Amino acid sequence: MPEHLKPHPDPPALAAEHGLLALVKARFLRWRDSMLLQRRFQQWALSFPLTRPIARRCAVRLFDLCAGFIYSQVLLAAVRLDLFEMLSEGPLSLADMATRLRMRTDALERLLQSAVALDLLEQRSAHAGVETTYGLGMLGASVLTSPGVRAMIQHHALFYHDMADPVALLRSRGSDRAMASYWAYATSQAPRELHDVAVGEYSALMAASQPMVADEILACYNFSKHKHLLDIGGGEGVFLSEVGARHPKLRLTLMDLPAVAKRAAQRFERLGLDARADCIGGSFLSDPIPQGADLVSLVRVAHDHDDEFVMQLFHKIRQAMAPGAKLLLAEPMAQTKGAMPVADAYFAMYLWAMGSGRSRRPDELMKMLNDAGFRTIRLMRQAMPLQVRVILAEV
Ligand SMILES: C[S@@+](CC[C@H](N)C(=O)[O-])C[C@H]1O[C@@H](n2cnc3c(N)ncnc32)[C@H](O)[C@@H]1O
Repeated sequence: MPEHLKPHPDPPALAAEHGLLALVKARFLRWRDSMLLQRRFQQWALSFPLTRPIARRCAVRLFDLCAGFIYSQVLLAAVRLDLFEMLSEGPLSLADMATRLRMRTDALERLLQSAVALDLLEQRSAHAGVETTYGLGMLGASVLTSPGVRAMIQHHALFYHDMADPVALLRSRGSDRAMASYWAYATSQAPRELHDVAVGEYSALMAASQPMVADEILACYNFSKHKHLLDIGGGEGVFLSEVGARHPKLRLTLMDLPAVAKRAAQRFERLGLDARADCIGGSFLSDPIPQGADLVSLVRVAHDHDDEFVMQLFHKIRQAMAPGAKLLLAEPMAQTKGAMPVADAYFAMYLWAMGSGRSRRPDELMKMLNDAGFRTIRLMRQAMPLQVRVILAEV
C-alpha cells in the first residue's frame, strides 16, 4: 500500500476521550477502508448477492461524479436552445426540431440522446413504421415550470468557468474571478457605491430563484402574528412581495444597497404594494438598520460573508431591534440531512469562487446569534429543507 494511504494509528486518547464506542467505530472504519482498497474484495462485493446492489450503486454514483460536468452542459444546451419550451405544446420529431433550431440533425440527435438518458426528455413512439418523436421528460418538465432553475442553469456557465481549474481556484481566492465580479458586493470595499449595471444581473437572478425560497419559509413560519416585517439584504423585493401577498395587513420594509433598493421600489410600485412597502437604500454595515419592525428577516445573506462581518451584522441588527422582536434567518445550511449536496458540496464551492462567505451548520449560526445577544434561538421544523433552513431568534 502506498505510504500516504496507510492509516494513521488511533490517537491513544480516543477511548479515554470519547468512550469505547468511538474506539470500536474507528477500528471498524479502519478495517473497512483497508478492505475497500483491495481489488479482490471489490470483485467479491460485486458477485455476492447481498453486497452487489451496494457495489453497483457505488459504481453508478462514481460514474455520475465523473460525468457530472457533461450532464450539466447537456442541460445548459437544452436550456439555451429552448428545447423544453419547444416541446411544451407536445412531442416533435427530430426533423421538425432540427428545422426550427436550424441545426444539423446528427448534432441535434446526439443532444437528444443525452437528454433522454438524463430524464430531461423522453423518446415517444419509437416503433417500426412510426416516426420517432421526443417529448418532455420528468426533469425537463420541472425545468420548464421553474424560471429560477433555468436562470441558475444559465448562470452556471460563469461558475463553471472559474471551476475549470478547481485546484487553482482553491489555491487563490482572489477578486479577479468571474464569480467575484458577478457578485460585486462580495469583495467590494465600497458596496454602497455599486451602480445599477453592477447589481442588475445578480439581482435579477436572485429575484428569479426567490419564489422557491419564499415557499419553503412560508411553509414553516406563521407571519400572521406580526405587524411589520423588515427584510435586510432583501434584493428586488420578491420575498417581501410573496409574504405581503399572503398577509395583506403586514407592513413591509426592505433594506439593500441603493441600486438594488431602487429596483425593489419599482417592483413594489408595479405590484401595487408601494402604499405599505418602503425601500431603504444603504449598506447594512455602514448605515443604520431601520427600526420599528417586530420581525426582521435575513434571507440568503449571512452565508455570503465571512464570520467577522456576519458577527458585526448580527450585533447591529440586534441593537436595532426592540425587545420581543424576532429575527428570521434563512439560508442553505451545512450538514442538512437529505440536502448535503446543496450546502456542503455546491454552496461551499460556490461561495469560495465568489470570494467571501461559507455554508454554516445550524449550530454554528445559533452560537453566533447567541454570542450577538439573541435569545430563545431555535431551528424551525421543515418538511423538505432543500433551498434553505430557517432559524428563529428573539431579542
Ligand atoms: C444573495 S442576495 C439575497 C437577496 C434576497 N434576500 C434573496 O434571498 O433573494 C444578497 C443580497 O444582499 C445585498 N447586500 C450585500 N451587501 C450588502 C450591504 N453591505 N448592505 C446592504 N445589502 C447588501 C445584496 O445586494 C443582495 O441583494
